[in-house]
Amino acid sequence: MGKIRLGVNIDHVATVRNARGENYPKPINAALIAQRSGADSVTIHLREDRRHINDKDLKEIRKKLKIPLNLEIAATNEMLSIALKRKVPFICIVPEKRKEITTEGGLNLSYRRNFLKKIITKLKNNQSRVSLFIEPNLRDIKSSKELNADCVEIHTGRFCNLVNKKKDYKFELKKIKNAVKLGNILGLEVHAGHGLTYESAKILSRVSGIKEFNIGHFLIGESIFNGLRFTIKKFRKIIK
Ligand code: PXP
Repeated sequence: MGKIRLGVNIDHVATVRNARGENYPKPINAALIAQRSGADSVTIHLREDRRHINDKDLKEIRKKLKIPLNLEIAATNEMLSIALKRKVPFICIVPEKRKEITTEGGLNLSYRRNFLKKIITKLKNNQSRVSLFIEPNLRDIKSSKELNADCVEIHTGRFCNLVNKKKDYKFELKKIKNAVKLGNILGLEVHAGHGLTYESAKILSRVSGIKEFNIGHFLIGESIFNGLRFTIKKFRKIIK
């Protein structure tokens, strides 16, 4: 099994900053520490309401980061034009609801399908690698292939929740395994993310065919106690 890439999501550094309306802690500093600590990419989600990362963060991180930036965006014209303008190397299209605390589920791939297809084509023509954040089901894997995405990121939230609560996660794990398998058969690069902790990342790192993890909330939380560098290195070891 090849090396699994680690994408470090630094949105919650901005959450802490924005809680007080100050200009610290700076997301760019977290991005550069992540880069120095062995992250393969840095992930940020530019939300419509700019509740964590804002346009200035994106500009600064895009300019200074040497490893690939993975920008999560909703499928809107505004986000498309920002992603095109900044020529972001990795794009992950995610669903977005204003009132949600975090991204609650995978994309609905049949909603405004032609528009989604148009966005994917434009981003790919702009040299971005395009990923779709989807639920672990076979229909969405096939649909992502039809939409000509390069990658899918499987929403691992439900699985991670069961692991955290020490409940039976076998069924969810099976769904993820089946989705990963089909994704690989169809030639999609398969990623996983949402809610990952040391424990759930370890379990999923044994699923053959997952090429990238994107991890944020738990990782930033652990960094309060052990530092970003230590936490990233520990995740690196776990998913190797
Ligand atoms: N991947 C995607 C597509 C996401 O939307 C998120 C949450 O922003 C994550 C990964 C990271 O999830 P978490 O912060 O729970 O680790």
